[in-house]
Amino acid sequence: MASVAWTNIGELATADSSMGEGVLGLLTDAAVVAEDGVITWVGPAASCPAADEMVDVGGAAVIPGFVDAHTHPVFAGERSAEFAARMTGTPYAAGGIRTTVAATRAASDDALRANAERLAAEALRQGTTTLEAKSGYGLTVFDEARSLVAASAVTDETTFLGAHVVPEEYAERPDDYVALVAGEMLQACAPHARWADVFVERGAFDVDQGRTILSAARDAGLGLRVHGNQLGFGGGVSLAVEMGAASVDHCTHLTDDDIEALAGSNTVATLVPGAEFSTRSTYAPARRLWDAGVTVAIASDCNPGSSFTTSMPLMIALAVREMGLSPAEAVWAATAGGAASLRRDDVGVIAVGRRAHLVALDAPSYVHLAYRPGVPLVAHVWRS
Ligand code: NIG
Ligand code: FE
Repeated sequence: MASVAWTNIGELATADSSMGEGVLGLLTDAAVVAEDGVITWVGPAASCPAADEMVDVGGAAVIPGFVDAHTHPVFAGERSAEFAARMTGTPYAAGGIRTTVAATRAASDDALRANAERLAAEALRQGTTTLEAKSGYGLTVFDEARSLVAASAVTDETTFLGAHVVPEEYAERPDDYVALVAGEMLQACAPHARWADVFVERGAFDVDQGRTILSAARDAGLGLRVHGNQLGFGGGVSLAVEMGAASVDHCTHLTDDDIEALAGSNTVATLVPGAEFSTRSTYAPARRLWDAGVTVAIASDCNPGSSFTTSMPLMIALAVREMGLSPAEAVWAATAGGAASLRRDDVGVIAVGRRAHLVALDAPSYVHLAYRPGVPLVAHVWRS
């Protein structure tokens, strides 16, 4: 058994409130020990047990590796021209996804995999140690299945998103596409996916179509996620709650009833402030959700259209500055919250029995993630 001890941690944010002060369970002058990649001890540096390898982090702040519970890293091409047009007044619409679909269908398996690997490596350098990855830019049985094979190269948290948008060739007969997604496409994709997701939105799928696809996915043994209430008010959140989805993502436009329904459910609200930043949208009501008792996660939504970033530190800064979370709440949402969104009890928290996914910051406190926006503060990442 190989053991490692991280010592001289000036501030340890465990993300478990039972372990220390506040929502982040803060400890000062702390140490963490792991054996074979699993944490076996957390406590004061002064009483740290000996280990095969001792890592002195020099008084730095240490946090759990980020859990990014919503990304779309399997695609080809890019849409900087669409972004530039948006910044001069062209509104964002779900249909832009079709541009990436054309490029993705034309790309080789190797190119799709290489792009996903490049983005996963970029995320890891910025402290993301657990990543969810969706398909959704193939939209044929063949292209969705190979997108999930590419996603599987970077994570086990793969999500079938055949219901991202109705592809052009089905524009006149969307219900045939829904039947394809819930039938043949699901059967081909389920072996490569842990989750299924549906984009419930004007210009994408309505609530009944979403319910059809999610019911079939549940019968196929997949966990459920929903893209809901991104571009306007609608039934995405209530469908997610009705179906017992693990997470409903975006949640930009919520009624009081939506918030109440989430608060009375086990569905996590996974907020993606990068999409709101890059589409110049209003931000999701994170403060109201948190105060209502909803479990909140924040994620990057990395995709070439609405949020082309892998930076969880940026999400934390936006969640604090634009969405009203405290720095501690935002870091919790990016770690333990992401783990809850993915129904994972082995990551997202620094506690005995969890994986040793640790991030040391080039800063004395986790607060610097919001206080020093845009600065590369992730100094070291350990992933088991
Ligand atoms: O999460 N909402 C749907 N899907 C992506 C956007 C995809 C795109 O524009 O390519 C999102 O924002
Ligand atoms: Fe998304």
